[in-house]
Amino acid sequence: MELADRVAIVTGSGRGIGREIALRLAEEGATVVVNDIGRESAEGVAAEIKAMGRQSLVVLADVSSSADVGRMVETVKNTYGKIDILVNNAGIARDQLVVRMTEEDWDKVLSVDLKSVFLCTSAVLRHMLKQRSGRIVSIASIVGIMGNPGQANYASAKAGIIGFTRTIAREVGSRGITANAIAPGFIDTEMTQRLDEKHRQELIARIPLCSLGTARDVAEAVAFLVSDRARYITGQVLAVDGGMV
Ligand SMILES: NC(=O)c1ccc[n+]([C@@H]2O[C@H](COP(=O)([O-])OP(=O)(O)OC[C@H]3O[C@@H](n4cnc5c(N)ncnc54)[C@H](O)[C@@H]3O)[C@@H](O)[C@H]2O)c1
Repeated sequence: MELADRVAIVTGSGRGIGREIALRLAEEGATVVVNDIGRESAEGVAAEIKAMGRQSLVVLADVSSSADVGRMVETVKNTYGKIDILVNNAGIARDQLVVRMTEEDWDKVLSVDLKSVFLCTSAVLRHMLKQRSGRIVSIASIVGIMGNPGQANYASAKAGIIGFTRTIAREVGSRGITANAIAPGFIDTEMTQRLDEKHRQELIARIPLCSLGTARDVAEAVAFLVSDRARYITGQVLAVDGGMV
């Protein structure tokens, strides 16, 4: 078990990719803080982790709110005494062509998908800098690299995560902290299940490995980047996309 004694926060881990990341880190022995805005789903994931014999804590918090994030990080510090791993996973999409996109949908997506990464990272860094160790992985998207019609807000937020990650890697590398991003392609979750069948088949035709990815595929990449095996990797963007980019 590579992550025994490590304490990890996974944001938005009540379902989808975040849930799978939380379970994968717990498999490696980590204590996992399940953050989400929905109580029932978060408690379900924490129960799964406890059933594996690991520790887990649910912290309901809106990661786009600095007050909520401050409370979450303090709760984790007070409960476990340290924070080794942060996975910035929470995210939403509000798709619309840019000429029809409302200011509200722009602000909401930038706030939940990008500002949250700044708030959570800066809050945990205060503790990681003192510890002189830490691992930060943020879930971006290939859309932040390639662009995608109808997703100007989402693509901008995900591109922002990449710039933020590269900057953080330079700022805190000397303190033994790494920061990397993962850029998933199209992953089979509730977010992509909303696509109609025709759009889904068109997407699959553009993927060299000929299928959508699974949440587990993303979780495997996270498990590697937060492990000691990745100690010399920082500032990187790892595409988990079946070769699409
Ligand atoms: N599904 C894909 O194909 C895909 C591709 C690339 C990137 N991503 C990214 O992966 C991440 C997870 O995506 P998913 O498909 O599992 O999404 P999802 O919608 O299934 O799950 C997202 C979770 O985040 C939670 N959440 C939403 N807003 C929150 C907030 N303000 N504070 C705390 N939690 C909040 C939700 O309640 C939900 O449990 C997102 O950042 C998404 O942009 C997904």
